[in-house]
Amino acid sequence: MAADTRHWQQVQAENQEKLNRLRQKQPTQQPRPTRRNILVKVIQWVGALVTAALIYPLLRFTGYTIKRKPRYVTVSAPLPASGFHAEQDFILFAGSSTPIAVSRTCTHLGCRVNYLEDKKFIECPCHQSRFSTEGKLLHGPAKKDLPSFPVEIQADETGKITGYLVTL
Ligand code: FES
Repeated sequence: MAADTRHWQQVQAENQEKLNRLRQKQPTQQPRPTRRNILVKVIQWVGALVTAALIYPLLRFTGYTIKRKPRYVTVSAPLPASGFHAEQDFILFAGSSTPIAVSRTCTHLGCRVNYLEDKKFIECPCHQSRFSTEGKLLHGPAKKDLPSFPVEIQADETGKITGYLVTL
């Protein structure tokens, strides 16, 4: 009887040893995706998209902006006798001493402003806001001055002005 028990214990130990060897040889299998796993992944992706959709307007609201690369526009001298040059984005006034480039985007609702040569001021065609040639607000409904852009005078070796470099 004791011999039978010993024999069976030995057989059991051998089987366990074979089983362990087989388990070590088998590559670890990836668990099959279940419906629950797929649903969890979908919910995670939707959550990430909703979070991104909420964060973007929040960043816009807080005034976070990505700085864009500066754009350079060269205006050749001399300017016309009236002393100004209008481009799509700015109006350049040569001025008596320092040139100034004023934005053409109205600070009220964004219409493109025009320089009225005969009246010597800038006027918006949409709601008639008026600005001086330095961009100062003269008359609403706009509430802010027109922004200005840096202007660099370009001259030749004799000191004669050859052009203006406006940085937008
Ligand atoms: S958009 Fe210029 S005054 Fe309204």
